[in-house]
Order: sequence, then structure tokens, then C-alpha cells
Amino acid sequence: MHQGEILITAPVEQRLDDALAQSHVVHRLWLADDKPALLASVADRVQVVVTRSVIGADRALMTALPKLELIAIFGVGLDAIDFVAARERGIRVANTPDVLTADTADYGIALVLALARKIVAGDRFVRQGRWQQGLLPNSTRVHGKRLGIVGLGRIGDGVARRAAAFSLHVSYTGPRAKPDKPWAYVPDLVTLAQQVDFLVLTCPGGPETSKIVSAEVLRALGPEGFLINIARASVVDHAALIAALANGTIKGAALDVFESEPDVPAALLDMDNVILEPHIASTTVETRAAIGDRVLANVAAYFAGEPLPSPVEDR
Ligand code: 8YV
Repeated sequence: MHQGEILITAPVEQRLDDALAQSHVVHRLWLADDKPALLASVADRVQVVVTRSVIGADRALMTALPKLELIAIFGVGLDAIDFVAARERGIRVANTPDVLTADTADYGIALVLALARKIVAGDRFVRQGRWQQGLLPNSTRVHGKRLGIVGLGRIGDGVARRAAAFSLHVSYTGPRAKPDKPWAYVPDLVTLAQQVDFLVLTCPGGPETSKIVSAEVLRALGPEGFLINIARASVVDHAALIAALANGTIKGAALDVFESEPDVPAALLDMDNVILEPHIASTTVETRAAIGDRVLANVAAYFAGEPLPSPVEDR
């Protein structure tokens, strides 16, 4: 028996898609040639939207679905949800915190190591047959250095705790100090950038953090500094970043997120001091399954009239 109708905005894990389709009538927006026509044909029945965090849900989608009551995000990021529109209509939002924290933090540390120790550059060097012509230039030590975290939420905290294993000295910035945490709080981002060797971005995207990693912050990070972004591309002024990488204003960057994913600025593709990744910080088999299970649990709770396992508090 199929209970309720769901619109999925973009491809999600097959396992989740199958499970949703088993219990509900599912409409897949990305497969429709004529999306407005699909939306019009389901408008009086769809109560739940399942979406990816980078796709989100805008006012136009909410307006097209007058019966919509729940937006269930596959992921944690909230920056692509129009909360003003959702609040006006009393549409609830749920996401999938906690289950992806550890993998994303592992990945942040992996990028710190890979960037400083030239792990990806070394692989490229061998494959391109350049070893026969000489040695890969020396890399940069990680242990004992200073690592700054921008946004000490769940993922930032996970990066900080892992950093201790490499004897990294951790400090962080964010809207407020967290006195229960053992790391030094630096209220100002420029000051933090000045003080550290690795600047790791783990803050939310959205207007409050738009382009906070500016040309000034990159200058403060300096010619021996590395930037690691596992947050959102919107946090960084990308024109300034490209210039900083080209001019040696900073030493290198590892980027898992881009403004127009899956497109990556052409200028970055030829740079050897950059690691480019296809937004995979949380994409282990295990975590993707857990994210899918949490989406299912949120959707099931909604249809059962029970409290949502991971509601997003009104913003
Ligand atoms: C997801 C993410 O891979 O959860 C998030 O906000 O950015 C990633 O972990 C992606 O959003 C999947 O929808």
C-alpha cells in the first residue's frame, strides 16, 4: 500500500530511492523533460520533497507544491533552502546530522595531509613519467604545525580532535567561543589566518559566511599557508583564491566544493598546488547508507504523524 506522494528533486542513493518507492508514490523531478508540467500534475498531492543539500528547495518549488509540508534533505547543508518561504507556509525541514560527521572530518584531515605532503601531486608525478627526469620537490611537514578551523560545529570539532593525533595546535573562529572546548578561540578570521599554517573551512554556507575567506584573509594565511575547504564554495572569494594560488600568496588549496558543481573554474585545473575533489567528503558506502536511512526515518515519521528524528529548528 503506497502512502502519500513524494517528489525527489535530484538523484539520491539507489537504495534510498528504492525504499521510498516501496512505500510511497515517488516523482523524480530531474527525469522530467517538462519540469513545470510534472510539478503541475502532482501539485495537489505531493506533501514531501526529498532533496540534496546543494539543490535544496526554493520559493518557486514550494509555491508549485501547495500541499507541501516536509522538505527532507539528504545531507546536512541548509544553505539552499529558502527558510523564509518555508516559514511562511509552515513547511518543516529535516536533515541528516551526526551520521556524516566522522567521515567528513576524516576527509578534512586526509586533505590536510594530502595537500601538505603532496600525495596527489606525487601520484601525478609518477603516472606522468616525471620521476625519471628528477625528484618531486620536497613537501611540507604537518605534525606540530598550527591548524585553524572556521566553524567549530560537529564536523569542525571532529577535525580538531583528529588533528591532535598529528600534534597539530588547534585554534578556531566562529560566531562565538565554545568554552567547553579545549582549543583557543580567535574571534577574528584575519587574525586566525595569520596565526595558522592550515585553515580548514567547516562552517555553514549562506549569507552570513558568504566570501568571508577574502583576499585579505588569504594574504594573512600567507605564502606558507594552505586552505582546505570541505564546507561550501560560497565561503570563499574564488577570484581572490585563484589569484592567491597563482601569485604564491598562499601555498596551496584543497577544495571539495565549487560554486557551479560539477563545473570547476578552468584556472584551477592546471595548478599543481591544488587538490580538486568532486564533493566527496561524506561519500563512503557506509555513511551514504546511513544518510539514506535518516532521510527514510524523517519521511516515515512525518507520514506517521510522529516527531521528526532530525528536524531543523526554525531559522
Ligand atoms: C552531501 C553535503 O554529499 O551534507 C551536505 O551538506 O554537502 C554533502 O555531505 C551532499 O550534500 C549530498 O546531497
